[in-house]
Amino acid sequence: MSTASELQSTVDAMVQPGKGLLAADESGPTIAKRFKTIGVESNEEYRRAWRDLLLSTSGLGEYISGVILYEETLGQCSSKGTPLPELAASQGIVPGIKVDLGKIPLAHAPGDEITQGLDGLAQRLAGYRKQGARFAKWRAVYNISPTRPGRLAIEANADALASYAAICQEAGIVPIVEPEVLMDGDHTIARSFEVTEAVLHEVFHALHRHAVVLEHMLLKPGMVIAGSNAGKASVEDVARQTVQVLKRTVPAAVPGVVFLSGGQTPEQATAHLDAMNRLAALPWNLSFSYGRALQEPPLQAWKGLAANVAVAQKALLKRARLNSEACLGRYETRMEVDEG
Ligand code: 13P
Repeated sequence: MSTASELQSTVDAMVQPGKGLLAADESGPTIAKRFKTIGVESNEEYRRAWRDLLLSTSGLGEYISGVILYEETLGQCSSKGTPLPELAASQGIVPGIKVDLGKIPLAHAPGDEITQGLDGLAQRLAGYRKQGARFAKWRAVYNISPTRPGRLAIEANADALASYAAICQEAGIVPIVEPEVLMDGDHTIARSFEVTEAVLHEVFHALHRHAVVLEHMLLKPGMVIAGSNAGKASVEDVARQTVQVLKRTVPAAVPGVVFLSGGQTPEQATAHLDAMNRLAALPWNLSFSYGRALQEPPLQAWKGLAANVAVAQKALLKRARLNSEACLGRYETRMEVDEG
């Protein structure tokens, strides 16, 4: 198969009506933070058990078309001895891998950050492919303040995202391009719109410069949403403004936009996605690539105990199903209680 047709078939498997992605690629420090909320120590066996629980959820492939894994998980096996990427694939879920190496302060730009991980990326991708990964993720992070992010952060992160995407496509791996404008702070929804517009505009300019094939990538943005310490906008306002900023900046050639949840509650993330999918005539498939908004309820149900696996899987399946409904604009809040 040519690289282009391989990229196309991976995109086709990932972008399907009523399906989204599960982000289960928390780095060591992040998964430790999540486990702390349920009083579980983050060691290799607990991390393996948790990701085994997620991927062995029966019926998950009905709503989830891809899973983003962390490097460690790519090499781990289920309790029955199946490699976890293979377990995902057996459910019709394409395995992917987070490939950035996290963020550091951006020199000469106090308060701004830059994501690292380009050195040796092509070699790492070849190894991940052998382990079953067919797509990758790179996350750039933008903090909002009255003066941040600055031009340098916007341009430097766009260039790194585009270099990463080009390297992935050359290796036959579909890149997910993730520019995350953080919700932290007390900024208005108007400020979130302004920053998101500037960030996405620059990202697509850089993708063009690096000759990235837009048909063979996915965009993973945050929604346009007021800061977590500010007054909330309505669900309809978030939906309208998010779609407006995407229409201004994201070419119709991009097959799918898969949102991150970024600290929204599971219910908010589902309601916002649903409201967007009720708006007429969108050029891209609008779906989800949620971490916390899919994992929080099952994590709270699990608490690290084997006896709770079934109830945790039920909680995961419920969120996956409701987000699938939201992809089709068919979610209703009563489903949160009625179908629990
Ligand atoms: P959240 O949905 O928890 O924001 O995680 C998605 C993700 O992959 C962030 O990089």
